[in-house]
Amino acid sequence: MKKEVFAKDLKEKAPVSTAFLIKQATVGVDKNGKPYMNLTLMDKTGEVDGRIWEEVQQYAGQAVRDAFVWVEGRCQVYQGRRQVVIGKLQVLREDEIDPKDFILESTVDPEALYAQLKGYIQSMSDPYYKALAESILVEDTEVVSLYKRAPAAKSVHHAYKTGLLEHVVSITGILDALSKHYGKILDRDLLFLGGFLHDIGKLWELSYERVTDYTTEGRLIGHLVMGSELVEKKVQWLESQPGRLPGKFPDEKRLLVKHVILSHHGQLEYGSPKRPKCLEALIVHYIDDLDSKINAIKVFTEQDQTPGEWTGLNRMYERFFFKPEWARKSNSEAGA
Ligand SMILES: [Fe+2]
Ligand SMILES: [Fe+2]
Repeated sequence: MKKEVFAKDLKEKAPVSTAFLIKQATVGVDKNGKPYMNLTLMDKTGEVDGRIWEEVQQYAGQAVRDAFVWVEGRCQVYQGRRQVVIGKLQVLREDEIDPKDFILESTVDPEALYAQLKGYIQSMSDPYYKALAESILVEDTEVVSLYKRAPAAKSVHHAYKTGLLEHVVSITGILDALSKHYGKILDRDLLFLGGFLHDIGKLWELSYERVTDYTTEGRLIGHLVMGSELVEKKVQWLESQPGRLPGKFPDEKRLLVKHVILSHHGQLEYGSPKRPKCLEALIVHYIDDLDSKINAIKVFTEQDQTPGEWTGLNRMYERFFFKPEWARKSNSEAGA
């Protein structure tokens, strides 16, 4: 089955007959005690609400999160939002669809990004820091395979397949340039570990087989502490391998790596238990913030459908953005 109609194309009053991935499904009850279903339907171009008013009992078991479904109905606008009033819904098998139509991917090849990451690891000089990076990002096959797929977030920035690796490689390139710029006062290897590992807990904080969501571990512990725990575990593992390290892993280095991870959100109110207390931690925090904002604004500007030189209102940043030539171009291509 080839998907031809996408969420972004749906117009008011138009009949809808296409496939979606269900991002969210809840059953509610109306004033008269009659059950109905609220769905969030998604594909690679965006999301649209869905409502089921009839035969809810029958559909409740089929219209569940992570299901690919064929939807027939009509698009209407309710309180300024488009919604599909669904008359018929049918579950599709994975071999009937192409996941790429539904789940957004990085435009950069995961293998090429991973090769770049490995190049950065190879260029490290401190034997302890380098062994730590290798034990996690080269030798741990679970980490390697998850890193090639994971998004960096549920929404906001790099929220697509392989988004985390794209974010990490981008940050590390900037950190490399900053370490050249400032020279001796910065520890390049520690900066790199901050780039590689600051969000590594997201590999398990999020689930991203189909729809991206938080895991129970993510909700209860969070990626900062999860990353710090992983470092502790790997340091102990390295120490248990005879001849792997030149000596005992220095305490100061272990603490600094954990500090860079734990402080990368910059402020206590953003979830960091400690604010950055060395230059490397401060830099990782600012560059992480910068890189996520650049991606978020780029994607927003590209996807915005408002004609002309200005985007619609960006609620997160509470402003309109000027649309440069490249964004206007990608817009008319997307519309074509
Ligand atoms: Fe983070
Ligand atoms: Fe990050």
